[in-house]
Amino acid sequence: MKVAVMGYGTVGSGVVEVIESHSDSIPKKTGGEALEVKHILDLRDFPGDSHEALFTKDFNDILNDDEVKVVAETMGGVNPAFDFTMKLLKAGKSVVTSNKELVANKGLELLNTAEENGVNYLFEASVGGGIPIIRPLTQCLAANHIEGIAGILNGTTNFILTMMIEKGMSFDEALKIAQDKGYAEKDPTADIEGHDACRKVCILASLAFGKHVYPSQVETQGISDITLEDVSYINCAGGVIKLLGQIKYINEDSIAAFVSPAVVYNGSQLASVKDVFNAVLVRGDAVGDVCFYGPGAGKLPTASAVVADMIDCAKHTNRRKIFGWGAGDEDYVVDYKSTIKMPFYVRAKSDCAKINSIFSDVRYLTRTGQPSDEVAFITDIMTENELKEKIKDLNVINTIKVTNY
Ligand code: HSE
Repeated sequence: MKVAVMGYGTVGSGVVEVIESHSDSIPKKTGGEALEVKHILDLRDFPGDSHEALFTKDFNDILNDDEVKVVAETMGGVNPAFDFTMKLLKAGKSVVTSNKELVANKGLELLNTAEENGVNYLFEASVGGGIPIIRPLTQCLAANHIEGIAGILNGTTNFILTMMIEKGMSFDEALKIAQDKGYAEKDPTADIEGHDACRKVCILASLAFGKHVYPSQVETQGISDITLEDVSYINCAGGVIKLLGQIKYINEDSIAAFVSPAVVYNGSQLASVKDVFNAVLVRGDAVGDVCFYGPGAGKLPTASAVVADMIDCAKHTNRRKIFGWGAGDEDYVVDYKSTIKMPFYVRAKSDCAKINSIFSDVRYLTRTGQPSDEVAFITDIMTENELKEKIKDLNVINTIKVTNY
């Protein structure tokens, strides 16, 4: 079967590499069909690349080629990926992607278009890089009512936090290494400020509960306010700081979903997830907690998931997989700040007498080099709005949610 790849960056070049390096085994997985890359779309030149004969700058070369049945979209971004994907689906070609921004923003329209045209739109690589999570969530856990999901969904920030926690490395130094290793987005702000994790939360929430959740509905906070002092206090508490995406089922008509730094205690399966690794913990009513773990970013891990989707498409030509979600609405994702109760870590310029007069039950933390006018503590459970009210007259340096996953 002839296939095409759109976008020859880190992931796209990995897709071509995996298809070629597994040319012997792929036909055994598809039921006989080999995958042969016929076109690679990219506006850039790659002089000396061994695939020079396959490169095109014209999307129509792929769209109008009837031999091409499956296309991997590894361009990233919403435009022109959305327009290209729509046209390909309407032309009867299946599309697979690692593009979480596109799926999170336009997944509903693309899935509907795929259904109308009897083809597949698959995106295993869009969440967790090489970790199998989309199929397990929709197929293997289908018998469960999902109660909640918590995930370390961004490799770059997990790498940065791990370097800060374990090596005392500065934020900037760790980010530079993550970029050099090809983990980060083109603009690493999307990693650091949590937007990449937010898109993955949208995809997981949409799949788990059947209604499209958009990035604008998921309150998102990144890791740029986390300091080595916070890391040190949380170490004293017996935990680590992770950038977590959290999704909680409330009822048929509402869920909570948010992305933020969170304290994870060392007993949690999520606490030991280090470096570029991601993990998604799914809480089902029948199965209990299951945790999916693996490399969350990088060329070959992500390509592994993209090519698996291409193989799945090759197995399902003329047979659409039943897969997707329906429309959501504005009120579907509730304001978690007034509904979800949890403990909080607080660091402030204050003293214990003052803190004891505000909070009924706190656990104080210490760190080496702690100034005499600084306190840090974990509160009992309350909503974020209740916390805000309590600390409104305090000189607060930082607050971080504490998760129960
Ligand atoms: N920039 C992303 C990350 C790539 O660091 O996880 C994988 O989505």
